[in-house]
Order: sequence, then structure tokens, then C-alpha cells
Amino acid sequence: MTKQPPNVFPKLTEPNGLGTGPVPIEPYVSSDWFERERKQVFGRAWLCMGRVEQLPEPDTYIVKEIEVCGVIALITRDAKDKIRAFQNVCSHRANMLVHEPAGKGSRFVCKYHNWGYRNDGDCIGVPDRNNFFKLDMKTCGLTPIHCETWEGWIFINLQSRPEVTLKEFLGPFGEAFKDAPAPFADEAFTVNVSNMRANWKETIDAFCESYHVPVLHPMTIGTTFSNDSNPFSRPLNGVVRGAHRTMTTFGNPMFQPSPNSKVERLAYSNVDTGNTLGGAAAREVEAIQHHPAINPRRIPNWATEIVWMFPNYLIFYSPGGFFTLEFWQLTVNTTRWLARIHIPRAKDVRQRFQQEHHNCRMAEIFLEDVGNLERQQRAMESGGKTEILLQDGEFLLRHSIETIQKWVAAPTVREALT
Ligand code: FES
Ligand SMILES: [Fe+2]
Repeated sequence: MTKQPPNVFPKLTEPNGLGTGPVPIEPYVSSDWFERERKQVFGRAWLCMGRVEQLPEPDTYIVKEIEVCGVIALITRDAKDKIRAFQNVCSHRANMLVHEPAGKGSRFVCKYHNWGYRNDGDCIGVPDRNNFFKLDMKTCGLTPIHCETWEGWIFINLQSRPEVTLKEFLGPFGEAFKDAPAPFADEAFTVNVSNMRANWKETIDAFCESYHVPVLHPMTIGTTFSNDSNPFSRPLNGVVRGAHRTMTTFGNPMFQPSPNSKVERLAYSNVDTGNTLGGAAAREVEAIQHHPAINPRRIPNWATEIVWMFPNYLIFYSPGGFFTLEFWQLTVNTTRWLARIHIPRAKDVRQRFQQEHHNCRMAEIFLEDVGNLERQQRAMESGGKTEILLQDGEFLLRHSIETIQKWVAAPTVREALT
């Protein structure tokens, strides 16, 4: 007989104003949809680029490729500490200006004919300038991209004039997550899945629910997120905030690595991470547990607060730290996935061992998801089904799909946000 969970879990779909019917598969497989998303979603939303700690001091920069819009963003912290974004394109013959993904430097020199730029965008050098035709260097700066920060997160907007401010875009989510902590944001272990054969929404869906965790991840985190009292890993809470959304997942308080998992048992002995997804000791990242929007119902047995910033940026808070995932669509059925896992610098061998184990475990979980998502994409493309069916615990992915549909259809961003 199938085990049924006790009825102690909140209903989440209808109280969050979401529908309950089947969801069409077309947006996951249609090239037309892909084109509309490119323009209506990624071309209009404020897009999170990461943390300010990735530019740790004046005269540092990062380069972020936004393939879906064909844009390469050069994000700089200038000498006055201002964070700016530009198109990474030289004004002379439009070659790529900066080739490295990140670095330090107050100026950039194009490697084609040596035109030079300061990191505030001004053009400061044109070799053999007098041989041009009335060239005005003041008009030869880098093309700026709208860039703002919020609580240490960097956002850009690719519209020539953003229809809404970042504050308006974040709306009630921005209010709720004001002062949210970001412990050890200056340290990161990154995992890059460069070309996964799956639609970007499928990858987002997989991180919008824990229903699949006991089934797809039985040997890694299955028993971390479920037990006899919650065998299907039902969520403990969930709130839709404008285009953004959060969910509190269940953590098994009795979790112990199996007696056969000798390496795992050794890795986590004496390091209280709150649960096995923790990269830090719980006491080092205590601020996470004190923020009112993280595990807002203050449920003792929580594992993670899943925080989705529309359209494609995920923050995973847990009692043992935080990590981020970003999913960038490349084509209708390929996606680039970047994970940044924030952990402290290890103070001793034991902690280093625990962290290495943690990072390997994360990569293992991601690979379980990648294989599954690539199979799902092939099956969706087969036309064997035209709709998917969602249960109450999958409310976050319903919100994701409904929000994308709304943005695709809405003539203005303001209407998409209402
Ligand atoms: S294209 Fe950059 S200097 Fe010529
Ligand atoms: Fe998964």
C-alpha cells in the first residue's frame, strides 16, 4: 500500500492565486516560443548577474555572456567604487574588447588596433588618431547597459530605457528580502554545465519542487529531504511575491548517512552543517536562520529556502550556507547552467575534507539532474504528450510557467508585473 503523508502540510497552489489545470508542453519545445521569450522575457526583465563580491575592489571586472540576447556584458567596478555595465564591444570595428571572464585593471585595450578605454567606459586612446575623419573621442566610449545593485546583487536591464525600475521589478520580494545575509559570498566553488540538452524552463522546474528528490536522488539527498512522516517530500511553506517566489523544503531531522557511507560519515562528524547540503558550520552562517523571510514559519525541520528571482536566478539558503544557480537559455533545447557554492576558507584539514566532500556531493546531485533533464527534453520533443500535470507541491513551477506566459503575452512590463 502506498504511504500517505499526514495532512499537516499547507496548501500552496490555490492560496497563492495559481491555477490547477494541465500545463501545455509547447513552450518547452517550440522555436516560436523561444523567440518570444528571448524578446519579451530576457529582453525586458532585470537580469541578476551575481554578487558585488565578484568585483572585490575598485578596478576589477567580470564578463557575463547572455547568449539568449546575443549580448556580452562587461561589468566593472571603477576607481570610485561604482559598478557599471557595458557592451563588451570596441567602438572602432566592433571587435570583442575583453576576452578574460574576470580580472583586475583600470583600463582595457582592444587587441585588434589598440584602442583604449577606462573602466568608466570613456575612450582614452586611439592610435594614429589624426588619420581618422573628424573623430570625436568623446563619442567613442563603450556602450553602457543599465546596471543597478540591490542588497549586494548586481542586475542589468537590456532595454534602451527600462520600462520599470529595479525596485519596481523586485516589488514585494525586494521588501521581504531586504538585508538578507550572504555569508562567505566572497568565496565560491563554481560548477559550470556549459551545454545541457534541455529547455531552460525544464531546468528551472527541477529546482522548483522537492517531489522528485526521494525518487531521483535516493543515494545522495533522498533521505535528507524525506522520511516516514513526509515520504513525498512535501514543502513546508511557499510564498509567491510578484514575479518572484520562495519555498521552504522539509529536512529530515533524523537524517544520518547510512553505516555503509563511511566517507560521508567521516566528512560530517564534528561539523554541524544543519543538514548535508551545508558547506559551512551552522554557527558560522547563523544570520541565515534569523532572517524573517527565510523559513518564515520558523519550522524546526527545514532543509532549504528556495528563492527564485525571475526569470532565471536561484538562491538556495540552508542552515549550512547558501549557493546560487543560474540557467541561461542558449537555444530552444539547450541551456547553460552555472552554480556558485559559497563556503568559508577551511581552517583545518577536517573542515577542508568536509567541504571537498560537500562540493563533490553537490556535483553528483547536479549530474543526476542533468541526465534526467536531457531525457525529459527528448521525451517532450517526441510529441507523446501535449500537457504536463502538476500537484500542489509543484506550485512554484506552475508560478514560473504562468509568469513566463504572462510576460510573453504582456505588451508592457508594467502589465506583466500586475
Ligand atoms: S576593433 Fe578594436 S581597435 Fe580596432
Ligand atoms: Fe534534483
